[in-house]
Amino acid sequence: MLLVVGTHNKGKIQEIRQVLGKEAEIKSVSEFSNEEPIEDGNSLKENALIKARHAYYASHLPSFADDSGLFVQALNGAPGIHSSRYAKTDEERIARLLKELGNEPNKDRTAYFGCCIAYYDGKNEFTVEGRCYGTIITQKKGHSGFGYDPVFVPNGFDSTFAELGEEEKNKISHRALALELFKKELLKRNLFANQ
Ligand code: IMP
Repeated sequence: MLLVVGTHNKGKIQEIRQVLGKEAEIKSVSEFSNEEPIEDGNSLKENALIKARHAYYASHLPSFADDSGLFVQALNGAPGIHSSRYAKTDEERIARLLKELGNEPNKDRTAYFGCCIAYYDGKNEFTVEGRCYGTIITQKKGHSGFGYDPVFVPNGFDSTFAELGEEEKNKISHRALALELFKKELLKRNLFANQ
């Protein structure tokens, strides 16, 4: 089966191939179009669907896309769907997050990373969501990964995502969980057999 993924991110495509590579050949939407869809949805789900539909209309092949973000309890879910637009660089995004959370010892610093994956093939459409719950610490720790990884400690661990490293992170992350749910859903709906 051929599946088109609505991302240009090579790291993501590699992670997707690790999970779905046996069942499907994964192609990037870049092979069909360089146009970027406008992500103006109000949730991870809406934005993932926008990107999945865009990939389908560019390729006319079964397509999927993901959208993710960090949701912090004490900030009423911010930065959420605006995670990548919270500031200009990862460095500045983390600085803004820590500043907004402040340093009061009793503050609730719980948060989760959410990843929604949407599928669209012109007929069938569905979404799944994976979440990884944890805590935002007060200072950056670790150097691997990207985004908010240096300040996020997943529940059950003493290290940040950036200290755990890619291999460990990929076992428990929101994206890994969403990908497993996505694979299960494709199997349940018999969509791997569709071509
Ligand atoms: P995207 O939808 O996967 O591009 O993620 C949107 C934004 O959410 C990224 O630019 C990051 O700021 C943040 N984010 C998503 N997933 C992660 C992660 O695994 N670690 C750290 N930050 C993440």
